[in-house]
Amino acid sequence: MKSGTGIAVGLLFIGAILGGVWLTKAFFVEGLDATEMVTASAKSSNDKNLSYNPPSLDDVPEGEMGESILFGYELVNDTNNKAEQYVGNNLTCTSCHAGAGLDENSSSLVGMTAVYPQYIERSGGIVTIEERINGCMVRSMNGKKFEANSDELEAIVSYFKYISKDIPVGADMPWRMNNSMENVPVPSVANGEEIYQKSCITCHAADGAGTGPNTGPALWGEDSFNDGAGLARLSKLAGYVKNNMPAGGEGTLTDQDASDLAAFILSQDRPVWANHDKDWPKGNRPKDIMDKENRQKVKDGTIDWKAMLTTKQ
Ligand code: HEC
Ligand code: HEC
Repeated sequence: MKSGTGIAVGLLFIGAILGGVWLTKAFFVEGLDATEMVTASAKSSNDKNLSYNPPSLDDVPEGEMGESILFGYELVNDTNNKAEQYVGNNLTCTSCHAGAGLDENSSSLVGMTAVYPQYIERSGGIVTIEERINGCMVRSMNGKKFEANSDELEAIVSYFKYISKDIPVGADMPWRMNNSMENVPVPSVANGEEIYQKSCITCHAADGAGTGPNTGPALWGEDSFNDGAGLARLSKLAGYVKNNMPAGGEGTLTDQDASDLAAFILSQDRPVWANHDKDWPKGNRPKDIMDKENRQKVKDGTIDWKAMLTTKQ
């Protein structure tokens, strides 16, 4: 090979790599140009001052885009009806992301299109917003994935983009991921059952089957989330319950109450996630997942709560 050709091939090769990196970035940030990306990352150090001010649905523009946004809203708020063929339980996204993801304290979905794609340890890779939505579809909704390019998936993303207006790319949002309890006290299932019967059954029913996805969703049984969902972890369920329940009386439960309730709820039967062995492919699987094995241990009286709650690995 002549040296000139060698250099040309080499340059082509470098060009291909740079082009590939550029394309990957361009794909990941969904149409933002380089300047916007730089501005966005420079801003993100001040994000704790970000105000929570998602636009009103009354201001959705007319036309095709507006229709998609409103369809997205309906899908999020009325998932079990509007996407019946995909949903495997009796929940909506609103069952956990209150107010269709607009409630600031209940795992708000405002800003999602600004922070995805991102690395997710449970998947062991970079996850797009579409894949993250489908993650909740197959776990929390115990259902099926929306096909790529389906009207449903596009509409939900349009809705998320709309409610994420003015949130800079990569923003560190103060309202995000606040529903996890760091030091979960060792629970008592019996005490959890007692509090449940006293404070939760008016909306969630004595048998946990609920009164409706947006009035008191199913907490266990076949109409609830499967044991691969985020809320099937004691730390997440205890954190969620402490911050958000009982609806109307939020903030009245102690950490101990919330832990007892989480242990009681997660000791009941629920749909089984078939792919536990594929989660956390790079290790670090949390110990506090209440899967079928751990539910059986509660029944047998052999569960070691302390070990589940104190060690991560
Ligand atoms: C049973 C409760 C539940 C239901 C129902 C549910 N989710 Fe989630 N969702 C969660 C939890 C828990 C998390 C993780 C939050 C955390 O880690 O703090 C989450 C996370 C997410 C995230 C990523 C949030 C982030 O900050 O990165 C998106 C996006 C999402 N859900 C979308 C949806 C959509 C869309 C639906 C309906 C199709 C849905 N979820 C239904 C419980 C639920
Ligand atoms: C006044 C009615 C009401 C009461 C009482 C209530 N909840 Fe809820 N719960 C709701 C509603 C409504 C939602 C849906 C999300 C939202 O709107 O906040 C919900 C959602 C939930 C969820 C997430 C959805 C799911 O399917 O897992 C959990 C967990 C939960 N509640 C637990 C409890 C516990 C534990 C108590 C008792 C301490 C309780 N709730 C008391 C109305 C209620």
